[in-house]
Amino acid sequence: MREGMRHLAGQNLTSIDQRMLEAFRAEGKVVSGEELSTLLNVSRTAIWKHIKALRAFGYNIEALPSQGYRLLSSPDILIPTEIQAGLATSRAGKNIICLPETDSTNLVAFRLAEDGAEEGTVVIADAQSRGKGRLGREWVSPRGVNLYCSVILRPSIPPFSAFHLTFLSAVAVARAVERTASLSTRIKWPNDILVNGRKIAGLLNDMSAETEKINFVILGIGVNLNMRREQFPGDLRHPASSVLLEGGKEVRRISFVHALLAELDFLYDLYLTEGESPIRKEWLDRCRIIGQTVTVSSRDAELTGTVTGVDESGALLIRLPDGREERVLSGDVKIL
Ligand code: BTN
Repeated sequence: MREGMRHLAGQNLTSIDQRMLEAFRAEGKVVSGEELSTLLNVSRTAIWKHIKALRAFGYNIEALPSQGYRLLSSPDILIPTEIQAGLATSRAGKNIICLPETDSTNLVAFRLAEDGAEEGTVVIADAQSRGKGRLGREWVSPRGVNLYCSVILRPSIPPFSAFHLTFLSAVAVARAVERTASLSTRIKWPNDILVNGRKIAGLLNDMSAETEKINFVILGIGVNLNMRREQFPGDLRHPASSVLLEGGKEVRRISFVHALLAELDFLYDLYLTEGESPIRKEWLDRCRIIGQTVTVSSRDAELTGTVTGVDESGALLIRLPDGREERVLSGDVKIL
């Protein structure tokens, strides 16, 4: 994103700006100032002001003397208008909140969900100052290059089934990366998405629940899309990377958001109608961890053994050299 546009990310367009873009897109050709002013019911001077505002957002609009205006290209900014354009989902993205910067989209989404935000509400930030990672780590969230997104879901499932939704979001991210960047992905237990063995995305779900029922789940999704090498801190514990570094090409963040929301919507529908089994199957296929010898480190222990499965609560089952089987709920896995 160009420097001058940065402060604009997160604001939305006025309804006249939006209708003007619709007119350009519907026509796909030159639209005269007169046509625009009739269509939008504003003066020619106002049309010119809106053209200038759209250009400031990064829309490349050509003015052709005595003919009119033509939209040549749209910016890759994460604003509701751009995300909603062409989005054909039934739940995910029905309500979209884009922020120029926030502490953590998971925290914002959690507060909104507590205040009753509807299922499918999506919170996206252009940058996070306190992005939350797994095991209390920070999720590095520089401005304008990646996707930091949280989705509110309200499934009628018991709290112990909530990890199904981690499977679901991991599969959705893996599919979206493959669709938009043609890169092959793998899932690493519990919830990392890898390309060429390097982590390009992480998931962190938060939940509000009572004993028997979930009030809501926040799917927190961080995807390193166009992050360059120098934007990674030197001390990143895991070999981290981005779609750009692995694929050699920038990805349009808007296209990625469209693909991700479409996959989330499809998989959530599948989950509600057919249960977790098809998603778990795809997750296991992409994970390929069963049978591998691994070391799992958590804050207070480290153990090495062979993975025999993932149980119904999402825990990793590890056969130790002495034949005992251990259940591991969290930690970092290293395949030996
Ligand atoms: C991990 O450590 O692998 C999980 C990282 C999850 C990061 C995402 S970015 C969007 C959402 N908001 C947060 O604060 N965290 C998640």
